[in-house]
Amino acid sequence: MGNLLSVWELGRKEVEEYVRLGLEVKKNPGKYANSLEGKTLAMIFEKASTRTRVSFEVGMTQLGGHAIYFDFTTTQLSRGETMHDTAKTLGRYVDIIMARLYKHSDLLEIAKHAGVPVINGLTDAEHPCQALSDLQTISEKGKLKKGAKFAFVGDCGFNMANSLMLACAKAGMEVALVCPKAYSPNPKYLSEAKRHGKVEVINDPAAGVKDADVIYTDTWISMGLEGEKAERMKAFMPYQVNGELLSHAKKDCIVMHCLPAHRGLEITDEVIDGKQSVVWDQAENRLHMQKAIMLRLLGKI
Ligand code: CP
Ligand code: NVA
Repeated sequence: MGNLLSVWELGRKEVEEYVRLGLEVKKNPGKYANSLEGKTLAMIFEKASTRTRVSFEVGMTQLGGHAIYFDFTTTQLSRGETMHDTAKTLGRYVDIIMARLYKHSDLLEIAKHAGVPVINGLTDAEHPCQALSDLQTISEKGKLKKGAKFAFVGDCGFNMANSLMLACAKAGMEVALVCPKAYSPNPKYLSEAKRHGKVEVINDPAAGVKDADVIYTDTWISMGLEGEKAERMKAFMPYQVNGELLSHAKKDCIVMHCLPAHRGLEITDEVIDGKQSVVWDQAENRLHMQKAIMLRLLGKI
């Protein structure tokens, strides 16, 4: 029985395979319409969500199964029932679990005890569903080429940067992590990513995105870091993805954002609504990739 807990644990071949499956499911939706008939997905959310919640639920409906949404605060988890006991219980009812949690160690605890496949719907450490579907989008836009330059601009020490540096390096891209020194990559993720490809850390924003094929940004204030708002706004303002920054990248560079975006902060209206933005395709591909993930983990593809 497999899980999808992180990009870290995926080999190059598995990353490639997920991209292939995401593209295949998108192209042939009818082929899988009843593949998960009678199956139930439990979705546990300790943090807010729009895309992850809706795309998993719609995905399960389209595959003929059913999804149950659990708001953490209205479950017994909020009253102290352990992850261990919750996982053991859920495993007796449902066929597959997706969880969005603060601590990655809580996700690992669920995976250890559930007895059914577990999918990471975002933790403080990783967001693998987003990173894999982003590779699908990069591939569709013709940029998933060996040596193409992927520049992540912003908070390089949190979940999106962790998953993307690993995913893009494993997919053969060159990765630039563009950030203020205080928000440098986690050394553990950086050294693991460097084992798979060329990955550099660059503090100067214009130099960081020079000749980029893909520019990616994310919020400066991830869920759970709201208390650091003032210092983060100050540190990241020079790293805003705006028209001027974009002028240093390749002319046909695409701009990506996992969303939700904070318009006027990490990205301007002009860029997110501009011709080079692919953010809505990214949001759509969450649906196709997650259908592929559930089909694969349940042995249907
Ligand atoms: N990108 C993403 O995971 O969006 P949500 O937080 O809306 O699920
Ligand atoms: N880094 C962001 C991603 C949201 C999808 C967060 O953790 O809030």
